[in-house]
Amino acid sequence: MLEWNDEPSAVMEAMPSEGAGATGLEEVALGAGRVTVDEKRLINCRADLNQLIPFKYPWAWDKYLTACNNHWMPQEISMASDVAMWQDPRGLSEDERLIIKRSLGYFSTADSLVANNLVLAIYRHLTNPECRQYLLRQAFEEALHTHAYQYVIESLGLDETEVFNTYREVPSVHAKAALSLSFTKALSDPEFSTGTLASDREFLRNLIGFYVITEGIFFYVGFVQILSFGRQNRMVGTAEQFQYILRDESMHLNFGIDVINQIRAENPEIWTAAFEADIRAMIMRGVALEEAYAVDTMPRGVLGLNAAMFRAYLRFIANRRCRQIGMEPVYADARNPFPWMSEAVDLKKEKNFFETRVLEYQSGAALSW
Ligand SMILES: [Fe+2]
Ligand SMILES: [Fe+2]
Repeated sequence: MLEWNDEPSAVMEAMPSEGAGATGLEEVALGAGRVTVDEKRLINCRADLNQLIPFKYPWAWDKYLTACNNHWMPQEISMASDVAMWQDPRGLSEDERLIIKRSLGYFSTADSLVANNLVLAIYRHLTNPECRQYLLRQAFEEALHTHAYQYVIESLGLDETEVFNTYREVPSVHAKAALSLSFTKALSDPEFSTGTLASDREFLRNLIGFYVITEGIFFYVGFVQILSFGRQNRMVGTAEQFQYILRDESMHLNFGIDVINQIRAENPEIWTAAFEADIRAMIMRGVALEEAYAVDTMPRGVLGLNAAMFRAYLRFIANRRCRQIGMEPVYADARNPFPWMSEAVDLKKEKNFFETRVLEYQSGAALSW
């Protein structure tokens, strides 16, 4: 145990000389040298994590500021016309109802999986204050998303127990949740720490699993399906909830990609040919599960969508994710049947799709990622 009057050198000895970096829970070192930018690292950082500055990664801070400018709350979006449409026996077809129930079933627990992964797995091992600042904002947004799904489920008067248990009862949803959780498996060991080549690689694998596959692929069939209702001016409250969530999720994905690429740049030894082959296989497995989910939620064409379009779209976004993390595309035959999706991220351009109230938390200058 260190005492208040210990010499700074004694404090430095309290940190292991190699292996995992600081957590932020170390004793505060009176008289220790000030943290410099050069000491800061995304993983295995040796410097004190309790001070935000000096910034080394301005992209993390910028995303934190933009995320705060994007603030919204689920209960500010009117669900009145959705309730009327849901209660009208002719308001929606059975196929359309299935899509809405499956989407709420998957997402209502998926955001809890992501939040738990952030707080229980990623946060401790990401040794950088400006990134942790973003993670805290992201964790709140994941809570907001779970809140939004709960709010829609409650507003429509759905069987909450049935919807929230979808991931344990519907195979196509269970398979996605199980794959997401498998990325965290190694990190769930309380003894796990980064600081060896193998554990640094395991941590990066978890980051790719959650940011690129769960948040970057598994969310997109549901986003396209629900936003397609909004484009037809139907279930506009639900669609607007999802549109705000999509905007948040685009930021989460972009943050994750920056973190992944920066860890790779700082630790090039992690990224071997075998590791990349493993990641490619993970991405293909994710695409296969999301394709199966598309077929399961939409056995017939509906809303101008069909399974073949989703097959093409998932390959398109998987290739895009690969490029974003410095890998060659996985699929040769990729095209984007939903070019409007990239526009949908930007709410200012999409205002007129919806006749519900549009919130203006967003400051004009901040919509530029
Ligand atoms: Fe989320
Ligand atoms: Fe997210």
